[in-house]
Amino acid sequence: MLIAPSLLSCDFSRFGEEIARMDKAGADFMHLDIMDGHFVPNITFGAPVIKWVRKYTDKPFDVHLMISDPLKYIDDFADAGSDIITFHIECDSDIQKTIDKIKSRGIKAGLVIKPGTPAEAVFPYLKDLYMVLVMTVEPGFGGQSFMADMLPKVAELRCEADRQGLTDLLIEADGGIGEQNIKLLADAGVDVCVAGTSVFKADDPKKAINSMKKKCE
Ligand code: DX5
Ligand code: ZN
Repeated sequence: MLIAPSLLSCDFSRFGEEIARMDKAGADFMHLDIMDGHFVPNITFGAPVIKWVRKYTDKPFDVHLMISDPLKYIDDFADAGSDIITFHIECDSDIQKTIDKIKSRGIKAGLVIKPGTPAEAVFPYLKDLYMVLVMTVEPGFGGQSFMADMLPKVAELRCEADRQGLTDLLIEADGGIGEQNIKLLADAGVDVCVAGTSVFKADDPKKAINSMKKKCE
């Protein structure tokens, strides 16, 4: 299991150092939550901030766009140093054009599905994706409760990816994940877990990441 700490729960007055701290703690990806106050009822930060903190780690930047018109901003997030860009199937941009734009910049593309969206919505795009991100909370805020009823969606996605022969497709889950439930996600077929609160509120993030990984063995 790969762990992607969500920086949404970090001390933003020390953003760069927080990223370096997560790197040392054994994070596999840095999960960066971009919210526009329109697609979701919260505002975080944009591409210039990502550009500033890029130098604090060599680990991949996994940029989760919770914005209404992602296509308009792909160049900005590409220039800022994103390695993976995921955006929501529920957004207003043309989905195929946005995937193509991300890939044309040499960046890995992913689609995200909100809890109310069925897995089938992303089936037509799977062959073009590096990753599908299944939200296990309503997007917008950290610290919410994990929705266990999203687990069958993960299994459905894995089953369809296998049917299409897409053995390399990564499935990521995001929201309310910690030591107490990560094994359920591993069993359902998740490859990458985002963890905000459970890593940042831990006394020892390295220990928290390690024990989450151990639970999945
Ligand atoms: C929610 C974000 C998540 C969130 C996860 O909209 O996409 O990445 O920060 O935080 P926790 O792990 O606290 O639910
Ligand atoms: Zn996220």
